[in-house]
Amino acid sequence: MTPILPDRLAPLVHRAGFFPERASSVAGEVDAVFGFMFWVSAFFFALIVLVATVFVLKYRRRPGRTEPEPSPDHSTKLELVWTIIPLALVMLMFAASTRAYFKMSEPGAGAPATVQVLARKWSWWFEHPSGKGARELHVVLNRPVELVMASQDVIHSLYVPEFRLKQDAVPGRYTRMFFTPTLAGTFPILCAEYCGTDHSRMLSSVVVHPDQASFDAWSQEGLAPKGGGLVATGQKLFEEKGCVGCHSTDGSDGVGPTVKGLFGKLEKLEGAKGDQRVKVDEAYVRESIVNPSAKLVDGFADLMPPTPLEEQELQAIIAYLKSIGAETP
Ligand code: CUA
Repeated sequence: MTPILPDRLAPLVHRAGFFPERASSVAGEVDAVFGFMFWVSAFFFALIVLVATVFVLKYRRRPGRTEPEPSPDHSTKLELVWTIIPLALVMLMFAASTRAYFKMSEPGAGAPATVQVLARKWSWWFEHPSGKGARELHVVLNRPVELVMASQDVIHSLYVPEFRLKQDAVPGRYTRMFFTPTLAGTFPILCAEYCGTDHSRMLSSVVVHPDQASFDAWSQEGLAPKGGGLVATGQKLFEEKGCVGCHSTDGSDGVGPTVKGLFGKLEKLEGAKGDQRVKVDEAYVRESIVNPSAKLVDGFADLMPPTPLEEQELQAIIAYLKSIGAETP
């Protein structure tokens, strides 16, 4: 597909330093459309301000001129000019941006690698074609990618500025996005749809591997869990289910309390009298996952969605929490 606006227009905004690097196959066309719209708008803004200023000065009230000039009632030629030119300009914008949009919503040449994207409050999860899931998106340089996106709760929006790509993840349906990474490196992923408390911290990154070998090496990594068994499964679940988005493992409180050193801790609950505390044990952890509203820790809001887990999964998470609880003084 030949773009309607030449990529040559892209530097109009890119070179000016307003935009980050272009790292995907669709970025050039997006910049060209944006550059065209921006400079057309800038030109007409300047023209209108200039003409308005000239008229204000020329036709101002001054000695010997108190009556307004008689105004002409009609000029077909003028009306045609100011209808046809803007119409042509907006039709060009429409055609160019539609073409660019189709390019990201339809597969191009070559079978794309499909990545399943799951958004939830407040983290991203990427299931890669190799079968590996991760909190970051991993792709290969110059290999077409398809993202199939879903949301577990509210509307989120996957936004990669360097790729010039943004697509909503909507509960109850799948949305898609196609692109080919053209620059190796690591680029930020943001959530661009206000989705609640931790929207601004719903960050991730996309890693563009320089070649397939590098991607494969990453895919193999960590498949044989160190430390093994239940703890490793629990850690994986803790990331996969998005717990880590709100509950840090480094001791800092986020939307929810940190889980570092949590197991065995005496926790003060919302509405507790005096020094009344509850001990964090297996039953408490289980209840707090299955029915988070039941016992709220003092100072934290009732924000966590109930998370249905298999009994085995609960055991794994409890084992993981115990393993990082032991590290505290
Ligand atoms: Cu997710 Cu904003």
